[in-house]
Amino acid sequence: MHALDHVDAGTPASLATRTVTLEIDGVATTVPEGTSIMRAAALVETRIPKLCATDNLKAFGSCRLCLVEIEGRKGYPASCTTLVSEGMKVHTQSQRLTELRRGVMDLYLSDHPAALIAADAPARTEIREMAQALGMSKSSYASEGARHAGVPKDESNPYFTFDPNACIVCSRCVRACDEVQGTLALTIEGRGFGSRVAASQGESFLDSECVSCGACVEACPTTALQEKTLIAAPPATSATTTTCAYCGVGCSLVAEVSHGEVTRMVPNRDGHANQGHACVKGRFAYGYATHKDRIRQPMIRAKITDPWQEVSWDTALTHAANEFKRIQAKYGRDSVGGITSSRCTNEEAYLVQKLVRAAFGNNNVDTCARVCHSPTGYGLKQTLGESAGTQAFNSVMKADVVMLVGANPTEGHPVFASQLKRRLRAGAKLIVVDPRAIALVRTPHIEAAHHLQLLPGTNVALLTALAHVIVTEGLAKDSYVAERCEAESWQRWVAAVSRPENSPEASAAITGVPAAEVRAAARLYATAGNGAIYYGLGVTEHSQGTTAVMCIANLAMATGNLGREGVGVNPLRGQNNVQGSCDVGSFPHELAGYRHISDPVTRALFDGAWGVKLLDEPGLRIPNMFEAALDGSFKGIYIQGEDMAQSDPNTQHVAAAFSAMECVVVQDLFLNETALYAHVLLPGSSFLEKDGTFTNAERRISRVRKVMEPLAGLADWEVTVALSNKLGYPMNYKHPSEVMDEIARLTPTFHGVTYEKIDRLGSVQWPCNEAAPEGTPTMHIDRFVRGKGRFFVTDYVATSERVSARFPLLLTTGRILSQYNVGAQTRRTHNVVWHDEDLLEINPHDAETRGIVHGDWVGITSRAGETVLRATVTERVPPSVVYTTFHFPESGANVVTTELSDWATNCPEYKVTAVQVVKVAKPSAWQQRHRELVARQKIKGHVVS
Ligand code: SF4
Ligand code: SF4
Ligand code: FES
Repeated sequence: MHALDHVDAGTPASLATRTVTLEIDGVATTVPEGTSIMRAAALVETRIPKLCATDNLKAFGSCRLCLVEIEGRKGYPASCTTLVSEGMKVHTQSQRLTELRRGVMDLYLSDHPAALIAADAPARTEIREMAQALGMSKSSYASEGARHAGVPKDESNPYFTFDPNACIVCSRCVRACDEVQGTLALTIEGRGFGSRVAASQGESFLDSECVSCGACVEACPTTALQEKTLIAAPPATSATTTTCAYCGVGCSLVAEVSHGEVTRMVPNRDGHANQGHACVKGRFAYGYATHKDRIRQPMIRAKITDPWQEVSWDTALTHAANEFKRIQAKYGRDSVGGITSSRCTNEEAYLVQKLVRAAFGNNNVDTCARVCHSPTGYGLKQTLGESAGTQAFNSVMKADVVMLVGANPTEGHPVFASQLKRRLRAGAKLIVVDPRAIALVRTPHIEAAHHLQLLPGTNVALLTALAHVIVTEGLAKDSYVAERCEAESWQRWVAAVSRPENSPEASAAITGVPAAEVRAAARLYATAGNGAIYYGLGVTEHSQGTTAVMCIANLAMATGNLGREGVGVNPLRGQNNVQGSCDVGSFPHELAGYRHISDPVTRALFDGAWGVKLLDEPGLRIPNMFEAALDGSFKGIYIQGEDMAQSDPNTQHVAAAFSAMECVVVQDLFLNETALYAHVLLPGSSFLEKDGTFTNAERRISRVRKVMEPLAGLADWEVTVALSNKLGYPMNYKHPSEVMDEIARLTPTFHGVTYEKIDRLGSVQWPCNEAAPEGTPTMHIDRFVRGKGRFFVTDYVATSERVSARFPLLLTTGRILSQYNVGAQTRRTHNVVWHDEDLLEINPHDAETRGIVHGDWVGITSRAGETVLRATVTERVPPSVVYTTFHFPESGANVVTTELSDWATNCPEYKVTAVQVVKVAKPSAWQQRHRELVARQKIKGHVVS
């Protein structure tokens, strides 16, 4: 298996609908207008030699290897840059063409080491294949490989090398960086034979602006840019298409395997979410799956102060089941619960919630979406009728203006960011609503039309001010609203947003954003044509998170920006399967398909299928579970793949709650922070070790396919099945496809989903049922799912988290490209070379008044706690705002976040914490206690978190 086995058609597909018929070597073919001759030939299985062309880059026409003859035309045009025309007759083979191509290749080989194209060359490369096809093994020129010889290799990047010796300066890497990734980190320096590839200003790859997405490596037709894993690895023996387990973009990847080890991840060119692209995490950061810290044996202990004891699966599962039964017998049915994982598959999340509802007999199930996008679920359901984003990612290519609210896609959703950048460079306008100057505010060839740099916690005031402008300046799409939305809710909303206190002038005092900027941004969004809103956790993780989601839906409805391509309301989901875990019933109040547990018809359906009598009351949410634990009424929890002790707010409160429980069962890849409080540790399995599906932010269900056997013997779904059986509730699934069949049977929006269909189509976007057998890329086309769209009045209510003399700064949090969430996976990869600690960003003004300089240790104190980080002084944050990431447990960012949460969903207010920052010399008291706890718990062969 090899990337060269992919049939590279040489140039991208044309999207034209009109077709052209031509003849290639006597074979008639019909292709879309605008197709290159090279691509048309590839489609009839005629491979024209090429070097500078590849089908994910625009034709460049520099190498001249792809020359062809066209009847009636003089000369030998390049087939990659020459477009087909009606009746054209093309010849791809002739003696003259072979002579010309050999001449071109001879020149290339004069600057390429012969050993790299020899039959026994260590790597299969495109240049070697082309030379062999032309019957050449070396150059006839004397200077073979000499011009770039002696230039040292750049080994700085942990994942790939750059060997200028092998470079033929075809510029594919430079174009991949520009066109696929959109970073523009590479250039060709110099001229003629002296030209060479340079990263940024001639820096090493590691020090340059390169974001290590690997697009250049994939594009390279030689071994000049090459994955380090391939240099020593024997050829791959299998290639399996699967789905990235990091962010909610859900890129399709091909895992190449040699002798049971993954040697390379190649983005799937046919992947619907990513179309052949990936980021540094998905392409390179898979090494955690076989990291030495992986838990390979179940473990138990009576008390959290005892040492762990390695036991068999049977002993661990029996012990866990007996403990849950004991606790329920002693403290009552509702004293236990479970957490599904948004990193596990749909099938695994479904089984955990089924175990809780059917085997525990209560509805105490929740998921980490509680702490990220639960306001999206509620806000969009109330306004539009469905708890999910409305578009496919591709839709952005038809947007005229994009409003990005509280999201930082270049760090959090990198492959979508690349697509967005393509659209922005093609002319779409950008409005950024963010307290920080994220990269997209100004990046090569992109400048946001407006950066509404609001104070953290004031989204609702700002979004309502945008609505005020749209309504009072007559920019609403009245006909759309009249046809598609509830008249009464519209009138109430118009009256509310029109009030003077909602004007940009009045709200400027709250948001800090000049009124003129708000007015201009509102006009742009409402009038530019297709307006699309993309938003992230900067919207949801607030005490008014749900209100802000409703504001966004209101804006889109009022301007008619829903129900077609290029528009919509698009939550950028954080974790790979946060959409899916919510879809399949992970919330305490909803069964699969977002149907309320109090609905007797839905309950009867599940009662019948599961052979139980479900409770009609919602169970406990995560924060309620912690409260109940501290009250003494909640004593046992089964947590699949979530590190609540690190990811949930107010760490000390969470720790106290876990410490009050009698049976904490953690199922995870590593001994994480939550495992510090666990009594049973069940080894988890990575995405490479199981079958299943993930659902990305576009509602796209994609297959996860097993690439290697589970390191500890069982996949996560098998563990839940075994635990349920031990609890006395039988589960008899032989394969995750049977679980999906059950979900489909019981869930109207999934009725048409099967593994066979996903395999056949590549992926499907739900709803997928009788009405939409192949899925639904765009929602709400003719009518909203709830019928008529409903406007909600969104009065701004300030969070009770206020700055004061004691806590004068506002802390907000976010992500960084190289790390992922709590970092358990990425910290165990070479990605730490880019980011090996969480830093506190502070504005120069605030730093100066505190005597803080770049690199100082600073203490951050809030009402909840204190932690210590190193400072980075930057104008990315405005005065009075500080910012950090939360990827490293020892930073304890959540020690300072508070328990304030969204009024509707309890999503924590991570994005607004009033803090003081001072220069300090030593770790905080919490950090010292945490270090001692970790040191005490270190066990043979395992590293805590
Ligand atoms: S590094 Fe590879 S892709 Fe880039 S110019 Fe050299 S040969 Fe071409
Ligand atoms: S963008 Fe997200 S899904 Fe795609 S490769 Fe990167 S982390 Fe994985
Ligand atoms: S492949 Fe056509 S000119 Fe290089």
